[in-house]
Amino acid sequence: MGMNTIGVVGAGQMGNGIAQVAAQSGFQVVMSDIADSFIQKGLATISKNLDRMVEKGKLSSQKRDEIFGRIRGTIQIKEMAEVDFVVEAATENESLKLNIFKELDQCCQKDVILSSNTSSISITKIASATQRPSRVIGMHFMNPVPVMQLVEIIRGLQTSQETFDQVKSLSIQMGKTPVEANDFPGFISNRILMPMINEAIYALFEGVGTPEAIDTVMKLGMNHPMGPLALADLIGLDTCLAIMEVLYQGFGDSKYRPCPLLKKYVDAGYLGRKTGRGFYQY
Ligand code: CAA
Repeated sequence: MGMNTIGVVGAGQMGNGIAQVAAQSGFQVVMSDIADSFIQKGLATISKNLDRMVEKGKLSSQKRDEIFGRIRGTIQIKEMAEVDFVVEAATENESLKLNIFKELDQCCQKDVILSSNTSSISITKIASATQRPSRVIGMHFMNPVPVMQLVEIIRGLQTSQETFDQVKSLSIQMGKTPVEANDFPGFISNRILMPMINEAIYALFEGVGTPEAIDTVMKLGMNHPMGPLALADLIGLDTCLAIMEVLYQGFGDSKYRPCPLLKKYVDAGYLGRKTGRGFYQY
């Protein structure tokens, strides 16, 4: 297939993680965002993660420099014209993603696959913003991307078998384990994870337990590596709310209604680790 260069749209926590893993797997990477400050922050995170691997003796400093040297940042999405494959990892907002895909469709070469790291938005809808719906697909990485094994691959209504096969083999090349899901709100991962997190927020809202009690029950009682409220802080409460809204609207079922406390925290700017405050303070 001759894939050498991967384009990553978005330098945030998912985008920079995807860029790092792609570069570690030997690809050249073009990482774009809308402001240079976002690019610099993304590159700094990658640099810190790679340094940690050197300190732990998992990577030589020469290899570290080679990996970091393969990643180029840009604020010009038009530079995606030179890439062989795109993963879009911008904010979880439908109209934003539709605009990005429209632009990518215009600037990327016509046989390039455009994938989205969306956590819940319809791939079929995203594909409709392009003239190449058979080459649009969901490639959903988990956070923290360098650590988590899974890539959920989502077929839109018009995604071709060839596109699916290429993304499956790319996921394996990136050291991940692909799992196939169909295009329903939240796919598999967030159909199950996000209602659990939302329910934990209801338990807090209704005074069933403190954040520490709720998280400890799930950690020690169910062997989850971290509690649902700490995980919500890691994912970002704005992203959690956006996903719940997609489930609520997509299924039209009241069981998916976002907890009012989640809405309130997002309104207050308590977005989790990235703003220093969510259910916990950082
Ligand atoms: N970037 C890179 N590496 C990281 C990292 C990060 N942000 N955070 C932790 N690591 C690495 C550490 O360096 C460490 O590596 P070694 O094993 O090589 O030493 C390893 O991960 C374990 O880290 P720690 O020992 O510091 O901490 P831990 O054992 O508590 O693990 C965790 C941290 C991996 C985050 C673990 O708590 C965990 O698995 N949590 C659940 C994460 C999860 O559920 N993610 C999915 C979120 S949902 C999502 O992403 C999709 C969506 O659409 C919302």
